[in-house]
Amino acid sequence: MLQEMTQDILIKNGRVIDPATNLDEVLDVLVSNGKIADISPGIEAHKDMEVIDAPGCIVTPGLVDCHVHLRESGAEAKAEAEERKDAQGGGKAKETIRSGTRAAAQGGFTTVICEPNTSPPIDSCERVEGLQRRIADSSLVNVYIKAAMTLGMQGEEVTDIKRLSGHSTVKALSEDGNPVVDERLMDEICRLAAENGLLLSCHSEDSAFSLSQSKASKSSASKPKKGGRLGFSPGQEFHNEANFIARDMALAGARNAPIHISHVSLRESLELIRRAKKSGRAAVTCEATPHHLLLDSDFRCPDGSPAIVNPPLRDKDDGEALRAALKEGLIDAIASDHAPHGEEDKKAGAPGFIGLETTLGLVLTRLVQPGIISLMDAVRMMSTAPSAIFRLGSGSLRKGAPADVSIIDTGREWTVDVGDLESLSKNSPFEGWRLRGRAVAAIVGGRIVMRDGELL
Ligand code: DOR
Repeated sequence: MLQEMTQDILIKNGRVIDPATNLDEVLDVLVSNGKIADISPGIEAHKDMEVIDAPGCIVTPGLVDCHVHLRESGAEAKAEAEERKDAQGGGKAKETIRSGTRAAAQGGFTTVICEPNTSPPIDSCERVEGLQRRIADSSLVNVYIKAAMTLGMQGEEVTDIKRLSGHSTVKALSEDGNPVVDERLMDEICRLAAENGLLLSCHSEDSAFSLSQSKASKSSASKPKKGGRLGFSPGQEFHNEANFIARDMALAGARNAPIHISHVSLRESLELIRRAKKSGRAAVTCEATPHHLLLDSDFRCPDGSPAIVNPPLRDKDDGEALRAALKEGLIDAIASDHAPHGEEDKKAGAPGFIGLETTLGLVLTRLVQPGIISLMDAVRMMSTAPSAIFRLGSGSLRKGAPADVSIIDTGREWTVDVGDLESLSKNSPFEGWRLRGRAVAAIVGGRIVMRDGELL
């Protein structure tokens, strides 16, 4: 984060929604010295305060996106990362810490947690430190890090989890895009995660890499199962998301390691998570993405191409199950899985969608307005819950809390136009969607980083 003196900020007459204290009331919020200094009706403005009038807006703890790809590893030179700006349409994945965090602020997020599947991966303290320097240099919002579970993300050798856990910015371990197929290795990762107080942020999914690895694996619990509805040819052997979720929850539970399941996409995965939560055998949480909640395998991008993402878009029935699980409170968090790709890579089939600038509008328009979840639920799933799961110490507007605040105009209508977005990549399946609800200000550590679409 860029550091500078912060001015007192008074947010007047907004509807304050704070799931941490179950507060939903029209109040004023005073921000001073980077903290929430007061929250009550009729706080008087002084001449040296920055006043934000917020009637008709909601004021929430800063939104947290716990699943984001910023594409910088910390190993590359700054110039190299910035160069991507001029290379639109090229083959390289397009995002930098700067552009990704500008997209985050524009989307109302004050905190993001980035994934380690950069090139090279974030699998050592040296990489973490390099990345921290880049973050300090150029990020507009808080950025925390998920470190890789295995060296080079090759699923063969465990990273130095003990040393990685010594970095306060490292909040979890992830092997983005792949489950760790070798069961003994995964068990060792669970043991070390528990011992060193790191959350397991698991991609328990049916990726091509895990499929090829699992075929070679001798482990009994990893024996391929038959199946047919997950995008592989009929009769082909495959591992599905639900198998890995069941295995990872069992391993984590046995080692007392908290586990968070990334982008759940199948009805049967939800069933397993429900059972695990009920049994209390594992400290399990999970997230869902807007694309798995709102799109299905029949969906085509505006140009008619199939929408390619991992996990893939599933059946309508799975989407219904996800929305029901959101309503029920089984799904803890909503995360974008912001996955920027250059035009050529995307055309060649690179999986993933950008999402930092559309997630809030989609949640408000497609989940809150139809009454699937309440506004309070939405704020919980996009701030308080991810903050608690990843132990960030934010996610509330209590007096004394860090002054990360999002101000949202829930009535603002807009149309997704990828040309207008801050992200350097344009791979959104939601291009042209009409949305209602948009962030109008984002305050990070007591500093306004976005106001009325203008970035600091
Ligand atoms: O679609 C995806 N894209 N899923 C992932 O898990 C990884 C991501 C990426 O890095 O592009």
